Amino acid sequence: MKVACIGSGLIGSGWATYFTLKGLETTLYDIDDGKLDEAVDRIKSNLKFMYSENVIDEREFNRCLERITTTTSMEKAVKDADLIQENGPENYEIKRSIIQNIEKYGKNDAIIASSTSGLLVTEIAKDADYPERIIGAHPYNPVQLIPLVEITKGDRTEEKYINKAVEFYRSIDKEPIVLNKEALGFISNRLALALYREAVEIVERGICSVEEIDKACCFGPGLRYALMGPNLIYQLGGGAHGIRGVLTHIGPSVEKWWEDMADWKKWPEGYGERVQKGVNEEMKNRRESHGNTNDEIAMFRDKGLIMLLKYHDKM
Ligand SMILES: NC(=O)c1ccc[n+]([C@@H]2O[C@H](COP(=O)([O-])OP(=O)(O)OC[C@H]3O[C@@H](n4cnc5c(N)ncnc54)[C@H](O)[C@@H]3O)[C@@H](O)[C@H]2O)c1
Repeated sequence: MKVACIGSGLIGSGWATYFTLKGLETTLYDIDDGKLDEAVDRIKSNLKFMYSENVIDEREFNRCLERITTTTSMEKAVKDADLIQENGPENYEIKRSIIQNIEKYGKNDAIIASSTSGLLVTEIAKDADYPERIIGAHPYNPVQLIPLVEITKGDRTEEKYINKAVEFYRSIDKEPIVLNKEALGFISNRLALALYREAVEIVERGICSVEEIDKACCFGPGLRYALMGPNLIYQLGGGAHGIRGVLTHIGPSVEKWWEDMADWKKWPEGYGERVQKGVNEEMKNRRESHGNTNDEIAMFRDKGLIMLLKYHDKM
């Protein structure tokens, strides 16, 4: 299986890192050499981290880099690829033009998988010659460490390409989930943003600070969410009565909470500035060993992810 990554930004270089770690020859395309140089730097840094965490040895580190070819020629990027992961800007027009370009040079039956965070595949594939093989394959950042891939189909996507894609992502130890129907924001971002909508509400009502929201998630439900989803959590919470028992027991209270909870349709005026101030404060207050800058905190996150992935037998 040969793969191509079109667009080599944060997500494209994350996919390239992951593909090469899984032994796949990967071509990486972007619109200019400067972008590709930055991508290679990011991939090297991702791989160095894997090396420092003993995920790969020096020989594998070098092999991974050898498996990557960078190019500004779309033809060279896609002509032999069986799966083309599209990671261009989140914009219908740009994605449609990238797809037209891919179709010009790629194999007619190659899967074109868009990393879109929430655009509709039906719309992305609107002008395509072969829309049946265009799918959404939404990863989570950092792609090289988070297993989830949300697979979506457009109205003309054929099931056989969905099945092939699922088989492919499974074969490289990703955890693909197929949406039965298109939905803006897919599954995980809808869930994440439902939680975040309430976080906004709690801060705006002055119930607690930005920092305390993060503590409440991180040291409470977040620890469990890294191990199992909300349904299983409530199943365990119900003991012998299971999730059904929880719903009977606390369900009536929950309905009162729901009535009182957030219903934001737009971001509250000035929230961006207020939350940034709160996050700056939170970052300053963190223990030095857990990181105080974006880069340090990302490192803290990635080390933790490796421990969790090992626990899940995913690494
Ligand atoms: N950032 C995230 O957390 C995240 C997570 C999941 C999915 N995504 C999705 O992944 C895609 C890429 O996001 P990103 O964060 O990597 O953005 P990014 O801005 O880091 O990268 C986009 C890349 O596309 C390149 N590009 C611009 N025009 C192009 C063209 N015509 N052809 C090919 N490449 C072109 C840019 O030069 C850039 O390198 C988006 O659809 C985004 O919604 C992002």
